[in-house]
Amino acid sequence: MRRIPIRGLAVLVVVLSVGCTPGEQVFEPEIPVLPELPLGLAAASLNVPEDNPMTAAKVALGWQLYYDTRLSVDGTVSCATCHSPEFGFADPRHVSTGISGYQGGRNSPTVINAAFNASQFWDGRAVSLEEQALGPIENAVEMGNTIERVVETLSGIDGYQRQFAAVFGRSTITPDMVGKAIATFERTVLSGNSPWDRWISTRDENVISESARRGEDLFRGKAGCAQCHLGFNFTDATFDLYHNIGIGMHLSDADLGRYNVTGVDADRGAFKTPTVRNITQTAPYMHSGRVATLEEVIDIYDQGGIANEWLDPKMSPLMLTDEEKADLLAFMEALTGELPEFALRAPRLPPDSEEN
Ligand code: HEC
Ligand code: HEC
Repeated sequence: MRRIPIRGLAVLVVVLSVGCTPGEQVFEPEIPVLPELPLGLAAASLNVPEDNPMTAAKVALGWQLYYDTRLSVDGTVSCATCHSPEFGFADPRHVSTGISGYQGGRNSPTVINAAFNASQFWDGRAVSLEEQALGPIENAVEMGNTIERVVETLSGIDGYQRQFAAVFGRSTITPDMVGKAIATFERTVLSGNSPWDRWISTRDENVISESARRGEDLFRGKAGCAQCHLGFNFTDATFDLYHNIGIGMHLSDADLGRYNVTGVDADRGAFKTPTVRNITQTAPYMHSGRVATLEEVIDIYDQGGIANEWLDPKMSPLMLTDEEKADLLAFMEALTGELPEFALRAPRLPPDSEEN
């Protein structure tokens, strides 16, 4: 046994004799305690596939992969680059910058509560988090890698090789396992227990302001927001629905969103309804990232969205007063909740294995 310093802490590392030369240090992953489902979220809606049950060791592995830049072709970009815990697991840039400064065409949606979405991406083109996770690795402007190369890289890192074997019971790492581990970590990035959730559970009037309570009534009533931002996660993405509210439709090269997936005319310019939980942390807004503040978002809705042929019939001018706008904002602010602490930082990562 031997002590090695990691981040200023003395961590006791047990050297196993199996499969490694004497004196070699075996990487010990940090294993988080699986967080409880936060107040206000519906356990039954968490889409955990039968063939990918959640275990603490798998969360730990996915946590490492999520923060590991070695998944990108040039070692500079990780999932957290564009879905950063500092910015509500989203990106403060209107569109993200991946490897070599390349830019994509859409704003990074938050990973928070993505586990409740029926499908992933602004246009719903990935059906599961497992499938989604492999997308950015191979996307030319995001991580620019190939999944085969990622598997090769991970297989060459002792600390990963051992963990994949322990978690999946197979000695050969496959792309499927990489997707499963990352998705399992993402299923812990859940936010609930916001001031609003506490208000609902306690009815204690000190928990949220009167303005926020009026805002909730507007959200569900006059302003009509809850027609689409509905249920415990404030989105109908739980039901795989998409809407055109007009963002960017005036542009000659308008992003047609869901239409690109279905080819159905009515889906032109339709996008997934994002959750409004933790919305204060994830500016800028909309698929284009071109709407900077929540005040501007509210003004767009107040005007009835942006007129175009495919505008959702649920959209109409709201005629909100300044006070009503402030109330809506206060309500959305009360939806910012707590995230599991471990997920907010990068874990210790397995070191590159030394070439012999
Ligand atoms: C270069 C920036 C970038 C990197 C790196 C990146 N993403 Fe994304 N991510 C995006 C963008 C942009 C979108 C939206 C794309 C779209 O909808 O077409 C997205 C979408 C998503 C979504 C869908 C969320 C939703 O609500 O639909 C999830 C989940 C996600 N990414 C997870 C990951 C994971 C896991 C990784 C690492 C394997 C990763 N991302 C790497 C930019 C990035
Ligand atoms: C017809 C359905 C619908 C209604 C009604 C609706 N929304 Fe939305 N909301 C959406 C969709 C779809 C998007 C994403 C649109 C895009 O990116 O093009 C969105 C985006 C947002 C965003 C930005 C989220 C992000 O992560 O970028 C906020 C905030 C928001 N809506 C709040 C509201 C409020 C407040 C109201 C009521 C005044 C409202 N919405 C009414 C469907 C709706």
